[in-house]
Amino acid sequence: MKKIIALLLTLLLSACETQIITVPVFIYDNSDAYMAEFESNIRLAAQPMDYLIRSFNSQNSQIIQNDQIDPFMNKDYPVLMINPVDRLSVYAIIEKAKQNDSTIIFFNREPLPEDLALYDKVYYVGADAVQSAQLQASLIMDLFGNDPKNLNEYDKNQDGIIQAVILKGEQGHQDAEARTKYVIETLTESKYQIEVLDISSANWDKETAQTQMEELIPLYGDKIEILISNNDAMALGAIETLKTYKFFDDLNQDGVIDRSIEPWLPVVGIDGLEVSIESIKQGYLYGTIKNDSESMADCLVQLADWLLKGKSLENFPYTITDGKYLWINYQKLSLEE
Ligand code: BGC
Repeated sequence: MKKIIALLLTLLLSACETQIITVPVFIYDNSDAYMAEFESNIRLAAQPMDYLIRSFNSQNSQIIQNDQIDPFMNKDYPVLMINPVDRLSVYAIIEKAKQNDSTIIFFNREPLPEDLALYDKVYYVGADAVQSAQLQASLIMDLFGNDPKNLNEYDKNQDGIIQAVILKGEQGHQDAEARTKYVIETLTESKYQIEVLDISSANWDKETAQTQMEELIPLYGDKIEILISNNDAMALGAIETLKTYKFFDDLNQDGVIDRSIEPWLPVVGIDGLEVSIESIKQGYLYGTIKNDSESMADCLVQLADWLLKGKSLENFPYTITDGKYLWINYQKLSLEE
């Protein structure tokens, strides 16, 4: 009798299980510091939902990602969340989704508008890179003072020009291109003079930036008045190298840099990682721009929920532009704020 009950229970449980919908989430690369936080925010946001999240690490390979996506292109998985490895080649994924009538929510790595236009059941959740550049420029203006014609003491050589080194993210990523272009443009438009000593690509990566700085310091060293990084991971990597060259020096060993009395070099990032907030508190990183993955995760998870329930998106809590785009604002973070 006990055996029969156990069998019945197992059957009942598996029947229940099959009814719970799974939404697969494909992350371009979990070793990316920002995406690792983003992924855990998606998991957290999805906890109260009545569908399950199953997440995949595509290890920075579109081939791996395509293989991971394939088994989920069928009627059992009506919604897929995709952070594409190669944002320029989502065409094939969209075509498959179309054949299957599945809905795709892309995020963080923005596909081309012409690809998104191929299908109406496709969305993009992201943030406007131009806004992050403008806010980062505003952090820099806060530091050098409000008067572009009369920079303060952070203009070390007092030539009225900000000497900068830029650490650039992955080539071809919409954020790397726009952040680099518009941070310079915003400063120039606000009448600040900026001399870009070097733009060095470190692929969003902390260790790469750390080694890159080994080459940049001997070239520019004391000339550098600010290090502008396209993201926090690279900013923190650069800080590590700058520490070894004593551009940051905790002379009194109290664990905090007091920039009024101890060597310090301004470094600004973008993302607002937890480790960056710590670095700001310890006086190293000057500031960052929050690339709000908590809100983006909430937006993704809610959108999937509404779509699964077949609700009309007319009253969806996040604004939907052109029927496809959901933009989340960046925010400035520094000790000054
Ligand atoms: C973030 C980077 C991250 C990249 C991944 C950007 O929005 O700022 O830190 O590496 O997305 O696609």
